[in-house]
Amino acid sequence: MAKDTLPAPEVPEGNEVFRCACAADLSGLVGLFLELTDDMDVRIPCERDVQQIIAASIETGGRFSPRGEGRLVLVAESQETEESRVIGMCTLVFSSNCWVGALVCEIRDLVVSRPERGRGLGARLLEAAFREARARGAVLASLFTESSHGEACSFYRSLGFQEKSCTYFEMRL
Ligand SMILES: CC(C)(COP(=O)(O)OP(=O)(O)OC[C@H]1O[C@@H](n2cnc3c(N)ncnc32)[C@H](O)[C@@H]1OP(=O)(O)O)[C@@H](O)C(=O)NCCC(=O)NCCS
Repeated sequence: MAKDTLPAPEVPEGNEVFRCACAADLSGLVGLFLELTDDMDVRIPCERDVQQIIAASIETGGRFSPRGEGRLVLVAESQETEESRVIGMCTLVFSSNCWVGALVCEIRDLVVSRPERGRGLGARLLEAAFREARARGAVLASLFTESSHGEACSFYRSLGFQEKSCTYFEMRL
């Protein structure tokens, strides 16, 4: 969908900041990712691999090619306690897309920690992701979710995402 099809959701301001992840966020991000896999009812093969992959995304985050290709992990951090607490995350993957003729941004691994859900944080996190993506020159934001995941589909529709029908194929290598 084009950027002008993504209206800013009307959600109350929260008490959190949105920023790129840093090394100190690692254990919080792994915990959030495990919540996500649990919600999706997916068993991950090895938790240590998850930790290493997230650590690598944090480390390479912010290193972009001259065309703007690269990735970053965006976190929502609660400001309610002295101690920093990561309460939401998503990964933004930027690539040049021939079909669109421009830079596009794929949103992956979006999750809000369970006690924080339903108060607009997911919507604000996506708004922050759109701001970041537009600032980097992306003209389109996209994401995949399973059609059986009705709650996530309702969430994305409520934010103005247009649904595209496509069939996803994969092959074990
Ligand atoms: C999906 C998720 C990120 C939404 O975050 P959230 O902070 O709970 O959502 P928000 O409070 O910002 O909701 C914004 C709007 O989305 C819609 N929405 C959110 N959750 C919904 C649900 N379970 N069912 C239907 N609509 C929902 C509502 O319209 C809501 O607006 P409202 O405040 O008027 O009700 C969060 O629930 C989550 O982490 N879920 C588990 C992981 C997951 O499914 N990730 C997506 C994988 S693709």
